[in-house]
Amino acid sequence: MNLLFIGDIVGKPGRELVRKGLKALVDAHDVDLVVANVENAAAGFGITKEIGETILEWGVDVMTTGNHVWDKKEAIDYIPNEPRLLRPANYPAGVPGKGAFVASTRDGRAVGVINVMGRIFMPGLDDPFAVVLKEIEAIRHRTRVILVDFHAEATSEKMAMGWHLDGKVTAVFGTHTHVQTADERLLPNGTAYLTDAGMTGPHDSIIGMDKTAALSRFLNGMPSKFEPATGNPRLNGVVVTCDDRTGRATAVSRINYSDADLHELPLRPAVRGTGA
Ligand SMILES: [Fe+2]
Ligand SMILES: [Fe+2]
Repeated sequence: MNLLFIGDIVGKPGRELVRKGLKALVDAHDVDLVVANVENAAAGFGITKEIGETILEWGVDVMTTGNHVWDKKEAIDYIPNEPRLLRPANYPAGVPGKGAFVASTRDGRAVGVINVMGRIFMPGLDDPFAVVLKEIEAIRHRTRVILVDFHAEATSEKMAMGWHLDGKVTAVFGTHTHVQTADERLLPNGTAYLTDAGMTGPHDSIIGMDKTAALSRFLNGMPSKFEPATGNPRLNGVVVTCDDRTGRATAVSRINYSDADLHELPLRPAVRGTGA
């Protein structure tokens, strides 16, 4: 079984890559199920019902989020009615929505998806290391194939989660930094790991936002309004191959495609340089 995980979709440039490229990507990598982080899908901040429904129509099976999940207030009403939209499982009890979902591939095989959020340089939530074990336990009888989106800032916390879950889940993929890391690997007990899947959005930017406004905050410390950038859109993510009887990952590869690369699939290699 092949699972595709797409790193944080940022604004319209990110959504357009998914709209235009996802089908070719699914064909090229023989993907059985698609998971995407959508916390920045609505103009860089949050998710709406309309955008969520559109992303699902384009072929994403499960949507994960992170600290931006509530940026658009309508998400509070949307999330209880859409089980395929997750928020981090370690929000305190009583918060709307859920942090786990068991999806089904087109041929009926179950795949669990869990979303948790880190606590280093992030809003203070419940302990993700304890919560994720409870979530795994709750769905383990339904599937051995489980993908975890660990939405976190610190590489140390993410690596710790990878080792914490080695042999317990199929994959631990990080999100939130919007910068893809080059450390994809199979951990010894069969869990695929990547510190950050990267960003599906405009890469001529500062983590997706317009360079001028984001840079000025660093230059003069004054508040400035962030707007999503538009230049150099790239689709970032990771594909994991696993044995669906055991849940063990057998291969993992990063993807980093420009719009042109997506048009030329499957001719292009999976990872391409981002230089000019
Ligand atoms: Fe993000
Ligand atoms: Fe985030």
